[in-house]
Amino acid sequence: MRARHLSTFFIFFFGALGGLLFGFDTGIISGASPLIESNFNLGTEQTGFIVSSVLIGSSVGALSIGSLSDRFGRKRLLVLASILFLIGSSLSMFAVGFISMVIARIILGFAVGSASALTPAYLAELADAPHRGSLGTMFQLMITLGILLAYVSNLSFLHHNLLGLRDWRWMLGSALIPALLLFIGSIILPESPRYLVEKGNVDEARDVLHELRKNTDQDPDKELAGIQEVANQPRGGLKELFTFARPAVIVAILLMLLQQLVGINSVIYFLPQVFIKGFNFPESNAIWISVGIGIVNFVCTILAYNIMDKFNRKTILLFGSIVMSISIGVLSVLNFTLNVQAAAVPTMILIGFYIFGFAVSWGPICWLMIGEIFPLNVRGVGNSIGSAANWIGNFIVSQFFLELLHMFNNNVGGPFAVFTFFAIVSIFFVIYMVPETRGKSLEEIEMEMRQKAALKAAAKNAPNAK
Ligand code: BGC
Repeated sequence: MRARHLSTFFIFFFGALGGLLFGFDTGIISGASPLIESNFNLGTEQTGFIVSSVLIGSSVGALSIGSLSDRFGRKRLLVLASILFLIGSSLSMFAVGFISMVIARIILGFAVGSASALTPAYLAELADAPHRGSLGTMFQLMITLGILLAYVSNLSFLHHNLLGLRDWRWMLGSALIPALLLFIGSIILPESPRYLVEKGNVDEARDVLHELRKNTDQDPDKELAGIQEVANQPRGGLKELFTFARPAVIVAILLMLLQQLVGINSVIYFLPQVFIKGFNFPESNAIWISVGIGIVNFVCTILAYNIMDKFNRKTILLFGSIVMSISIGVLSVLNFTLNVQAAAVPTMILIGFYIFGFAVSWGPICWLMIGEIFPLNVRGVGNSIGSAANWIGNFIVSQFFLELLHMFNNNVGGPFAVFTFFAIVSIFFVIYMVPETRGKSLEEIEMEMRQKAALKAAAKNAPNAK
């Protein structure tokens, strides 16, 4: 299918839609799980497993999809991911007990993991260099919209057993709508021009590029020539990940682990529970706290969308790391020094700043960068590795957060002190290890990486050459 007649907005909207399902399917469970627990008479361990089964599925889905996408193309696998979303959402809507729910959530996890490994590379490969920051941020924008919609769906269906179906079934089933949209969209979307060149399909790549760039001042033929030059470089296959692309692998893994270890999902998944347990908030208010977080997160990501191509990625990351370190650092100190009553309101405000810091920087940029820093030949696999690191980090934080909270007698200062440590580590990581990618074409980024590795190798061999 060619890009003909499709507007750029349509392409990037549908291209990023996997993000909406990612956000929805991870966000929905916080509201649905207590209802499922009482409906199926589950123990807390079983409920915990239903929550984390998506994360297990995602890690596996993310890891397995990349090499397939280097072989079969980004588009075909997006279609596959959307089918998995449809199956997983239907099964979870109609699950009859613990086992069937776990199976459904693992399938959903596969879909979420696949989408998270496919979408960043796909968007980066479609975008032109001057707008790649904002267009790539569409993925995170969709994630945050998905999270917000999940909270709204929780709020709207709670206690409404429509057509004889329990509220939680509607909550989980509402994911079918975006899944169907993704399915239709992914059939119509064009294949990535870079993947097409890599596979020798230059004419179709030219067509797609001409269509994508028709309302920009970018020259599609020049871009095509650049892509061909890179595609003609000697290929090392997967070995490239251990040779000149090794720095990209390391940066991707650390970016993604740190994105999770700063603790964002303790807020996205668990904050209502923190307020109930730590600050004795009534349970009925919990869902409103979620909606508030969802709105702040989404609005700040719109801001990120607008600034992403105006400042260097490193500058924005550094800004985010500093805002997060200060806000949760202060939060931690306050919760160890003030009494519970006095700490509640400042905690809420500081969490607002913390979400702002994350949403304008680490939220979008990590996904954006894994789409940018890998060479064409192994871009799919590289994205898989980065994305899987993210899901593994997410799993670790989600597993240990409540336990950590318990260890500190429900004082949020405890877990947030740990997150502050990682936020501070992230400052140094950005300064010393993260490359700058703004304004460069994917091909320029790859050539720079190749040259750096060649220079390093030459320097290593120099003393022997004497
Ligand atoms: C992270 C998710 C997180 C979300 C919050 C994403 O970038 O990968 O784990 O829930 O941001 O907005």
